[in-house]
Amino acid sequence: MAKYIHVSVAWPYANGDLHVGHLAGAYLPADIFARYHRLVGNHVLMVSGSDSHGTPISVEADKRGIPAREVFEHYHRRFLLTQQKVGISYDLFTHTDTENHHQIAQDFFTRLLEKGHLYKETQKLLYSAAEKRFLPDRYVEGECYICHYPAARGDQCDNCGNLLDATLLIEPRNRANPEDKLVVKESEHYFLDLAYFEPQLLKYLDEHDHHWRANVVRFSRNFIADGLQGRPITRDIDWGIDVPLAGWEDKKLYVWFEAVMGYFTASVEWAKNIGQPDAWKQWWYNPEARIYNFIGKDNIPFHTIIWQAELLGVDGIYNDAEEVKSYDADLQLPYDVPANEFMNIEGDKFSKSRNWAIWAPDILERYQPDAVRYYVAMTFPESSDSDFSWEGFLSRVNNELLATWGNLVNRMLGFAYKRFDGKVPEFDHLTPDDEAIIAQSEAAFELIGTLLEAVKLREALQTAMALAKDTNVYLDRRAPWKSIKTDPADAARAVYTVLKVVDNLKILLAPFLPFTSQKLHEYLGYDGQLFGELKTEEYQESTRAHEALVYDGSGAIGRWEKSDLKPGTALREPAPLVVKLEPEMVEFERGFLGQPREELPITV
Ligand code: MF3
Ligand code: ZN
Repeated sequence: MAKYIHVSVAWPYANGDLHVGHLAGAYLPADIFARYHRLVGNHVLMVSGSDSHGTPISVEADKRGIPAREVFEHYHRRFLLTQQKVGISYDLFTHTDTENHHQIAQDFFTRLLEKGHLYKETQKLLYSAAEKRFLPDRYVEGECYICHYPAARGDQCDNCGNLLDATLLIEPRNRANPEDKLVVKESEHYFLDLAYFEPQLLKYLDEHDHHWRANVVRFSRNFIADGLQGRPITRDIDWGIDVPLAGWEDKKLYVWFEAVMGYFTASVEWAKNIGQPDAWKQWWYNPEARIYNFIGKDNIPFHTIIWQAELLGVDGIYNDAEEVKSYDADLQLPYDVPANEFMNIEGDKFSKSRNWAIWAPDILERYQPDAVRYYVAMTFPESSDSDFSWEGFLSRVNNELLATWGNLVNRMLGFAYKRFDGKVPEFDHLTPDDEAIIAQSEAAFELIGTLLEAVKLREALQTAMALAKDTNVYLDRRAPWKSIKTDPADAARAVYTVLKVVDNLKILLAPFLPFTSQKLHEYLGYDGQLFGELKTEEYQESTRAHEALVYDGSGAIGRWEKSDLKPGTALREPAPLVVKLEPEMVEFERGFLGQPREELPITV
């Protein structure tokens, strides 16, 4: 039976371009996982969007002297292009400034308030004497009072990952103006009563411990063990979603409070957009469905504690419709939160301010999307921080992707094309050696499928590449380029065998390398698309239109099934699958690191 799989992907702040850390942390893992489940035939709903609110956006806007909306619209547009290029197959990549998102976020607030899960409290907050306003979250910087990192942000420490209270920072300062004098002033805010949910959250963790990643369990358990306290969910800020209460006009909902709801609101939007407004319920009200949150490790508490509390707290919002009464009608909590650790760059931490970064639009301009996907996937920080190095990129692309995979494909396809009349060879029988490698490639579907389902993506890719390696060894042993002169029937057996294994590898590698697998599919003489199409669409709401990235899987024919390659099938003339990299690229690329990056001016 086809399963319902929800792939919820972290919403990138639209205050700068995407970089390889984003790809490695959440987007590429999510895409590989989603593509695998689509090939299996499961019902996949993969959503995300630009995180358009909060101080990350307004700080950038202040720096550039332009409105926050212009910042987010500019980067949102770039996110669509970049992710289309690298093939992140969202069913919907929208943003949090849609009417749909605003409205549902406000419904969540109202519902939580009605159910008694929000309370009001007067907070002591940092106030800028110079700017005459409160400075929340990322407007403030100071020494972390937990790990003593000198440049912790007002809301979270980048070093230890703890969520912080800005007033407790050691020597807090205004990031934009270190001379500014900060004073403590009172302001009234709403708090989410996290403590109330503690028993339910502990039960939830007990249920999922055994299949979650160790770091995710550890972080979440510690977070609860430190004592769950109410968290403020409104802010003194003018860019964000209105608090739906009279008298609260000059405050907004806290960005983290509403952004996580995007997993839900984007599902609702997707259903509306496809003209089946109830379709989201198949995932959100269905206890058999599985929701996976793909995120980076700095996002863990929001995705294992806070979002769960919100889901528990709204207690079956919108569940009065007839068709959902057959479910138990509570919104489903995430089944897994496979957070990745960080990807460093050439041995050093990512830093936007020092431009110690590899920007996704730049790398995708110069290299094949599948080369980027391959290297990043082989370097996924699944259990500890990993490192992107250009030397490593060169070596993995040339020595693995090209030498082990691309050359195997091009050698055999080229040979068959020339020596077997452009066809998949006909043969009399297969030798045990031939049958053994075919059997190995068929068994790989289960092996790799199990790894992918357990979100062990790097190991899944390694396993597929090990099969490609074994196939090369087999091919060198059988050497059809020799036997064709003395025993053409034997050469035909070997070439057929390799083509069949390659056809299996085409599918086994397709979640990782969708672009090259599609090309190979065509060289092998097949028609049609393994996957659907990724396109940008414009959607009109009552007052505004917004652009989104949309995956249309209706034409996809790819299946997670072993090859049924027919002898005699006409091949298409092959061209090289993988482009060879020149060693000079290493120095060339390193030259950009730490140098000022030319940022495009924002024009709207
Ligand atoms: N915008 C956050 C970041 O870039 C991630 C938000 S994930 C969400 O770190 F689910 F809350 F939207
Ligand atoms: Zn810290």
